[in-house]
Amino acid sequence: MKAPYHEIGVVNTKEVFKRAMEGGYAVPAYNFNNMEQLQAIIVGCAESKSPVILQVSKGARDYANQTLLRYMAMGAVQMAREMGSKIPITLHLDHGDSFELCKSCIESGFSSVMIDGSHLPYEENITLTKQVVDYANQYDVSVEGELGVLAGIEDEVSAEKSHYTDPKQVQDFVGRTGVHSLAISIGTSHGAYKFKLKPGEKVPPLRFDILKEIEKKLPGFPIVLHGASSVLQKYVAMINEYGGKLEGAAGVPEEQLREAARSAVCKINIDTDGRMVVTAIIRKVFVESPKEFDPRKYLGPARKELAEVIKHKNTNVLGSAGRY
Ligand code: G3H
Ligand code: 13P
Ligand code: ZN
Repeated sequence: MKAPYHEIGVVNTKEVFKRAMEGGYAVPAYNFNNMEQLQAIIVGCAESKSPVILQVSKGARDYANQTLLRYMAMGAVQMAREMGSKIPITLHLDHGDSFELCKSCIESGFSSVMIDGSHLPYEENITLTKQVVDYANQYDVSVEGELGVLAGIEDEVSAEKSHYTDPKQVQDFVGRTGVHSLAISIGTSHGAYKFKLKPGEKVPPLRFDILKEIEKKLPGFPIVLHGASSVLQKYVAMINEYGGKLEGAAGVPEEQLREAARSAVCKINIDTDGRMVVTAIIRKVFVESPKEFDPRKYLGPARKELAEVIKHKNTNVLGSAGRY
């Protein structure tokens, strides 16, 4: 059956992940909720020649309006092509929480969906994930599943503590569901407060031992890392300097993400860092130019800075720059 996503001009993740695996890099999945974030992602990725996954949460879809979002994605692809860019662009549902939501996204032009059954009992996670895979396969849409629970907020599901992915379960889960990629829990978490550090303490390393075990069980299979913002201290400081209050915010160090990207990790999810860049710049403009009330005068600089941060990440952290 011809998939609605062909009309949007996006691609599924299959070929993109194969190339990332062979090339030892990860494809960035940047979340967006509005036009400026989307423009920054496209400019940042087109200019750095990086494949990109445009990532939309359930909350983002409600915020932006699902019909408008479809045309925004279509326009974003067109914009990249008008810039002379050939980068592959995927439209992906982040943390889908039901079969109905995944189906609706597939029908409206998503080329990839995540069904997040990680908080469910194991057998229920398998049943729900398989139901989505069976539907998505009719349209050659990619499906990401999740095993293991990240601490923090997973959209509307909140977990106090993380449960690392059990490598003993991954073969069975992938085999029985048929998922095309797997999100795992190895010590990352969502949001700006990933680690509670005492003064002088360093961020603990991710559980690369678990990642290696998983790679052994699933050779060549694409692994996804959620909660992978670095919480760049430059922007934490800027937010605090210009009236914000983010104390003790800490993220995953860039070197650790680079190491993960060289392995079976093919997709790295980044939302918080983008939010912080935008907030920091807007706060700065408001403080420095209190008479300003034209949204272009604060959203414009925020968009420009975000595109630069995205280029930096693609080039120095994910290794996805210069691939297309
Ligand atoms: O993992 C969650 C993403 O950061 C999306 O967050 O549900 O607030 O849009 P959101
Ligand atoms: P961050 O909160 O670390 O940016 O993670 C985003 C994410 O995993 C989206 O699914
Ligand atoms: Zn996530």
